[in-house]
Amino acid sequence: MPPEFTQFANQYRTRVDAALEYYLPSSDEPTQLRSAMRYSLFNGGKRVRPILAYAAALAIDPDINLTLVDPIAAALECLHSYSLVHDDLPAMDDDDLRRGKPTCHIAFSEATAILAGDGLQTLAFDLLTQSDLSSEIQIQLIRQLTLGSGIQGMVLGQAIDLAAVDHQLDLAQLETMHRYKTGALIRASVAMGAICAGADEKQLAALDDYAAAIGLAFQVQDDILDVTSDTATLGKQQGADIARNKPTYVSLLGLGAAKAKADELHRQALGALSGFDASAAPLRQLASYIVQRSN
Ligand code: IPE
Ligand code: IPE
Ligand code: MG
Ligand code: MG
Ligand code: MG
Repeated sequence: MPPEFTQFANQYRTRVDAALEYYLPSSDEPTQLRSAMRYSLFNGGKRVRPILAYAAALAIDPDINLTLVDPIAAALECLHSYSLVHDDLPAMDDDDLRRGKPTCHIAFSEATAILAGDGLQTLAFDLLTQSDLSSEIQIQLIRQLTLGSGIQGMVLGQAIDLAAVDHQLDLAQLETMHRYKTGALIRASVAMGAICAGADEKQLAALDDYAAAIGLAFQVQDDILDVTSDTATLGKQQGADIARNKPTYVSLLGLGAAKAKADELHRQALGALSGFDASAAPLRQLASYIVQRSN
């Protein structure tokens, strides 16, 4: 990746980590619940969704006051971390390793992991009410996060995923599953960054085309890495999809065609940004990162 992107990503990863530390500080007398929430947040996540929100906000308004974006970025990471805690539970993917450490239910208990997920999810919505943005904008943000994460988004995708275990999906069904389970929250991340920066309808539509493409590409690459990477690099068990007989882009199309699909989506994403100037450079680089990443 170009050095300016590495620097951009590091800067905003540090920034969202500081915001998360502020909104969910450690306490002198930590409860199991708080410890489990912090354990699941501060464990080496790539912070792709917060970085996307910052990049989208900066593409719309390069001079935006970034303190307006901080609670949105933190909310997205809380929501995403909750989805991972629940995704790893025995009743779902039953995974023991996440971000290079034992999963929340292994490190704590199943009940605590369920509650930590619940706590992270509700904290996310609380954070959206904690910015200095107008209440009208706050309601738009809450609506976006609900659509991205709920029964029209991630939760629906997770339900389709679980129902698909041991079944064959055709390509259209697989794409639908991926667009919901991973794409929807990525679309919300871009939309929320852009909305808080005052994007107009035309800008939002173009950014949504970009986000839909990279959102699907993100899960295609996740499927590819499950086959091509190794457990140490991934920080989660390599081969978990095959072991659990999950339909993936690789299982359906083969590795070569899955990579070609990711490349095609990358091109689509860049095309959607053609009306933006250099202020969208981080969004363009993020699209490349998403299909080139190794973990
Ligand atoms: C993993 O998400 C789950 C998917 C939606 C594919 P990430 O790859 O963003 O995981 P972290 O946050 O960096 O651990
Ligand atoms: C994750 O999909 C989607 C979520 C909403 C968490 P996966 O089940 O493929 O994610 P990993 O591979 O466990 O990170
Ligand atoms: Mg899963
Ligand atoms: Mg999983
Ligand atoms: Mg996966």
